[in-house]
Amino acid sequence: VIGYFNGRWIDPAEACVPLDERGHQFGDGVYEVIRAYGGRPFLLDWHVERLFQSMEALRIRPPFDPGACKDLIHALIERSGESEAAIYLQVTRGSAVRNHLFPEPSVEANVSATVRPVKSGATEAKSGRLLLVPDERWLNPWIKSLNLLPNIMAKQTAHDAGADEALLVRDGCMIEAASSNVWFVVNGELVTAPADRYILAGITRRFVLEMARDLGIPVREEKLPRERLSEVDAIFLTGTLTEVYPIATVVEHPDIPCASIPAERVPARSVGPEQV
Ligand code: PDD
Repeated sequence: VIGYFNGRWIDPAEACVPLDERGHQFGDGVYEVIRAYGGRPFLLDWHVERLFQSMEALRIRPPFDPGACKDLIHALIERSGESEAAIYLQVTRGSAVRNHLFPEPSVEANVSATVRPVKSGATEAKSGRLLLVPDERWLNPWIKSLNLLPNIMAKQTAHDAGADEALLVRDGCMIEAASSNVWFVVNGELVTAPADRYILAGITRRFVLEMARDLGIPVREEKLPRERLSEVDAIFLTGTLTEVYPIATVVEHPDIPCASIPAERVPARSVGPEQV
């Protein structure tokens, strides 16, 4: 595993990020995870395009242009010597004395990265399990921001219930998973939620959409209500590291509250998590 911070190669386990760092203190930053196959980054242009959209959304001044960003990703892979790898690239608003307001005068964004080896063909024909969990994220999951607490809580809840992923339900529809996009096969058509503000427009999702179009497989970009689960013939997840991952079962665990933070941990006077 190799690490990178603002132009220097570092040991990822070594302290080097300033304590007054906005990604570290506020989650004020964005990221990408890119998969390298055979030493080459997969769908790199799309990842870089999305990184720039995320930075623009949060008004983070890009520390590089798209070409230099791609050069950095290639350099990271080369330096790591890995051919099957996951590249994590993070850009934060920068380092400044803690203050919610953007630093004034503005500071340079911080760029950090790690490269770790991953097993090739991570998706063996294993059939996964999903746990239905209410989507407790903010109103802009389309931005690939560092703020992943609701995703983490949902995924851990799923894991604790013996499931592989959390199937997030917003407004009664199964729109996304905690760290992957979700697809359903209904009446011979592929159904996946539209890439509106409520989901991350996955790069793998975009690739699968393109493949489906090429293969003449009908696709509906529609939100599937939870009640229609009984009509579903097949389910799979997509993601950079998840790849295409088949799902066999969707559960609502009888012993675990269907919320990422169980109601008994939430102060009584506040409104508890919505039921799915
Ligand atoms: N997660 N939805 C969410 C919430 C995600 O976090 C991810 C990716 C996806 C799939 O997007 P893509 O196909 O671009 O990887 C969908 C990354 C891999 C992560 O946080 O590790």
